[in-house]
Amino acid sequence: MDKAKETRGRVADPCTMVIYGAYGDLTKRKLIPALYNLAHDGLLSKDFAVIGVARKELAEEQFRAQLAEEMPKFATAKVQPEVWDALLKRIYYVSGTFEDPGTYQRLKSTLEKVDKECGTKGNFLHYLSTPPGVFAEVANQLGAAGLLTEDDGSWRRLIVEKPFGTDLASARALNKDLGRVLKESQIYRIDHYLGKETVQNLMAFRFANVIFEPVWNRRYIDSVQITVAETVGVEGRGNYYETAGALRDMVQNHMFQLLALVAMEPPISFQADAVRDERVKILRAIQPLSDDEVLSRTVRGQYKGYRTEKNVSPASATETFVALKLYVDNWRWAGVPFYLRTGKSLKKRISEVVIQFKRPPFTLFRDTPVDTLEPNSLILQIQPDEGINMSFQAKIPGAVVRLGGVEMSFKYTDYFGATPSTGYERLLYDCMTADATLFHRADMVEAGWCAVQPILDVWKALPPRNFPNYEAGSWGPKESEDLLAHDGRRWKGSE
Ligand code: BG6
Repeated sequence: MDKAKETRGRVADPCTMVIYGAYGDLTKRKLIPALYNLAHDGLLSKDFAVIGVARKELAEEQFRAQLAEEMPKFATAKVQPEVWDALLKRIYYVSGTFEDPGTYQRLKSTLEKVDKECGTKGNFLHYLSTPPGVFAEVANQLGAAGLLTEDDGSWRRLIVEKPFGTDLASARALNKDLGRVLKESQIYRIDHYLGKETVQNLMAFRFANVIFEPVWNRRYIDSVQITVAETVGVEGRGNYYETAGALRDMVQNHMFQLLALVAMEPPISFQADAVRDERVKILRAIQPLSDDEVLSRTVRGQYKGYRTEKNVSPASATETFVALKLYVDNWRWAGVPFYLRTGKSLKKRISEVVIQFKRPPFTLFRDTPVDTLEPNSLILQIQPDEGINMSFQAKIPGAVVRLGGVEMSFKYTDYFGATPSTGYERLLYDCMTADATLFHRADMVEAGWCAVQPILDVWKALPPRNFPNYEAGSWGPKESEDLLAHDGRRWKGSE
């Protein structure tokens, strides 16, 4: 059965997508292959066009030729020439700097021309893939050029890439700047983690089944672990990473979204704001850490070799690893620790959520005391092997009653096959169909920053003295194991 067809939705609205910073990696690696996949699946309107905007002086033909050359490298499936050619023909280019009002005037006339030629009905999707320092500038200039005004039934939307601010104050300022030229409903703050199928499946798992929700709380759950481990280092992104570090790069956005999806209450509907209201409540309920708690409940690390990477200071204090213990202060989760860890140059690439259940309450099996039983755990694997594993106890066959742990395991590919995807298809499609469910709202970004701000402050005041403190290819600094060992627990999956 063709599962893709089964899930096919309506064709997205006609529109012109303008990519700012189009000469960067994201365009060729993700955005164009994602648009191709949407076109291939019949989800992109035939009245669709792309305009790339970048500083680089390039003729339109050169821009197209470069994308055509790169496409086979980044496409997620074999490229069908008729689909690709039709898309490529509708890719345009405008060169200019983001500070120059002339750029936007040239863009405006190109947009008018393209809109007419391609029948895109005055709908513009502006995609900011520029350095974050010019997000506000571009939005402002677009506003001044009249390119954000929705009239005659057309829509104008803006997707903003991460990082959205570098701390609470800068995120608030950026929200304010964007708010001067756009309504909140026009702003789509993107988080590519929410484009991952298995992340989206967290909601289906929790709210389309009845058997998990009754135990999804402090009565049955001992603790939750969220791990996003990467084997790669900073991959030439030293310039950016030096200003970010793992806490800003991964925790405030991707990991907090995972936490929110795991911990949120059932929304009253799947309307974007109903879902986002529940997610933001969780972010707001994260117990803020006091200065002392920052010291006892957070761990930072830097892998050996980081300081010799390109564009990294030889005395860098930037963390490439973080582990945290957080609490969500509400009725469902009071007292349940959420352990988060993420890092670069770790032993294994793995993103997963582990729901660790409590032990059975009393000793029933004579020769297997309760405290030696491995409690149930449910592992939601996000990548690379997407699936769900449930571990439970079973009787080992034989005349003597002995118990052992077994696993029930479900793999996505066994049921649905591999779906070629860049992870951006769903997000682009949602923006073209005005579904903001998977995007961050202004209050969510600020709530996330509120939770990490005390950590940023203490870390800044007390620079690390022991960096680098973990071997590349390990599971991070020893203190990360200690964080859990102190509570009588250990990280799953780092044996
Ligand atoms: C990005 C971070 O947001 O996510 C990168 O900036 C990180 O540092 C990447 O490598 C991880 O994404 P994925 O999809 O490979 O898990």
